[in-house]
Amino acid sequence: MTDKVLIIGAGGQIGTELLERLNQIHGPSNVIAADLNSSSAFANNPYEKLDILDKEALYNVIKKHQINQVYLLAALLSATAEKNPMFGWQLNMDGLFNILNLAKEKIIDKVYWPSSIAVFGPTTPKLNTPQYTVMEPSTVYGISKQAGERWCEYYFNKYNVDVRSLRYPGLIGWKSAPGGGTTDYAVHIFHHALESGNYECFLSEDTTLPMMYMPDAIKATVDIMHAPSENVKIRSSYNLAGFSFSPKEIAAEIKKHIPNFEITYKSDFRQNIADSWPQSIDDLSASQDWGWKPDYDLNQMIKDMLLNLRKIKS
Ligand code: NAD
Ligand code: SER
Repeated sequence: MTDKVLIIGAGGQIGTELLERLNQIHGPSNVIAADLNSSSAFANNPYEKLDILDKEALYNVIKKHQINQVYLLAALLSATAEKNPMFGWQLNMDGLFNILNLAKEKIIDKVYWPSSIAVFGPTTPKLNTPQYTVMEPSTVYGISKQAGERWCEYYFNKYNVDVRSLRYPGLIGWKSAPGGGTTDYAVHIFHHALESGNYECFLSEDTTLPMMYMPDAIKATVDIMHAPSENVKIRSSYNLAGFSFSPKEIAAEIKKHIPNFEITYKSDFRQNIADSWPQSIDDLSASQDWGWKPDYDLNQMIKDMLLNLRKIKS
C-alpha cells in the first residue's frame, strides 16, 4: 500500500524541511501539508488549513486523504509557551491526544511526535545527559513534552500504537525561521552577522546548549520512522545529539568567516529556560537501536549555513 502522509505544522521550522524530504520519499501527491495558514513551501503538495485542536476537522482531513501516517509538529515552543502556559499545555497535550486516539482506533497506523531536551530540568546531570536520568523540567514546554513522552509510551504498551519520537536539541537551518524557542538565537546570529555585522544575544556568553544542524534532524526523523518496529525499543523518546556550543563560542567561529562580526549580550527571560537544560547529550541508545549517526559537526554546519545564506541574501 502507498503511504499517505500528513504533516501537521508543515509550515514551521522543521515542517518546511521535512516536507521537502518526504516529497522525495513518497512523492508530493502523497504528502499532505496541514497548518493554520498556507505557505509558499506547500506549492507542490495538497494543503489543508487545519487546527489540530479541532478533532472533527482532523478526522475529516485524515479520511479525505486516506492518511495512514502522521507527523505531528504543531506545538508552542519553550519561550512562547512560557508566555502563555495554559495554552501551551492545551495545544501540546490535546494535539497529541487527538492523534494518539486516532492511532488507538486504528484510523492511522504510524505517528511521529517530537520531544525535546526540554524534558530535562535543573536537577538533571548537565554533561552527557543519559537517556534515563532525573527529569524534573521547570518550563511548561518541558512539562508538556515529558508528559507527552509518558503518554506515547503508554499508548504503545496498552494499545499497540506505533508512535516514534526524538528529543531534538536546538535546531539550526537556513531554509526556515525558528518559531519561538530558547535556542532560536543560534539561527538569528547568522542572519544578523550577514546583514548588519552585529548581534545582541538574549542568552549570556557562556550558556552552552546542545544543538543540531537541520539536515541531521531530518535524517534522524526519517530514519526512526523507517526503522523496523522491533528496532525502536524506546517508545517514550530517544536522546539525540549533534554538537554543543555557547554564544561566545559560535560568535568566535562566525568571526573567522566574517572578521568584523561583533556580538553583545543582554539576557532576558529565556536565560532561565536555557539554564535549566543540559549542555550535552548522550545518544548511545539511538545509535545502538537504529543506527543513528550525525553527518555535521559544528564547523561543517557553520560553513554550510553561511554558504547558503549568502546565496539567498545576495
Ligand atoms: P514552529 O513553531 O516553527 O512550527 C510549528 C508549526 O505549527 C507552525 O507552522 C504553526 O503555524 C503550526 N501550528 C501551531 N498551532 C497549530 C494548530 N493549532 N494547528 C495546526 N498547526 C499549528 O516549530 P518547529 O520548530 O518546527 O517545531 C516542531 C516540533 O518540534 C514541535 O513539537 C517542537 O516542540 C519540536 N522541537 C523543535 C525544536 C527546534 O529547535 N525547532 C527542538 C525540539 C523540539
Ligand atoms: N529549540 C527548542 C526550544 O528552544 C527546544 O525544544 O524551545
